[in-house]
Amino acid sequence: MPLTDDELALYDRARGASANAHAPYSGLPVGAALLTDGGQVFTGANIENASFGLTCCAERTAIFTAVSAGHSDLAAIAVHAEAESAPPCGACRQLLWEFCGDVEVVLAHETAVTARYGLSALLPHPFDARLLNE
Ligand code: THU
Repeated sequence: MPLTDDELALYDRARGASANAHAPYSGLPVGAALLTDGGQVFTGANIENASFGLTCCAERTAIFTAVSAGHSDLAAIAVHAEAESAPPCGACRQLLWEFCGDVEVVLAHETAVTARYGLSALLPHPFDARLLNE
């Protein structure tokens, strides 16, 4: 099934963002594009570091960019990796849950959708604010 026009537009932004990746160690540039409830798009790329452990995924770069600009109302995220469609890593799932809740995660390769999940299927039993506010 192909991406919808809206999904394709967001995915194109993610693909464009991957051009700014700093990925000399893995050789895997990744780009992410976040759509806010208000229709704005924020992008991010993965930024690696010689110490390896400080590497930041594209999804987290995009989330931090959007939230630090005052937008924590996130509706959708698109991710582009030069490799095949890749699901977000565990750390990024946790961060997405914080700001997007049970958002739909669409995995795509080129313009073909390979899978669709609710984030809750990828992150069952999340740690979240409900566990801190009791
Ligand atoms: N990476 C992401 O940017 N997002 C993911 O969801 C998985 C992995 C990046 C981190 C690292 O720079 C490279 O891909 C290889 O792991």
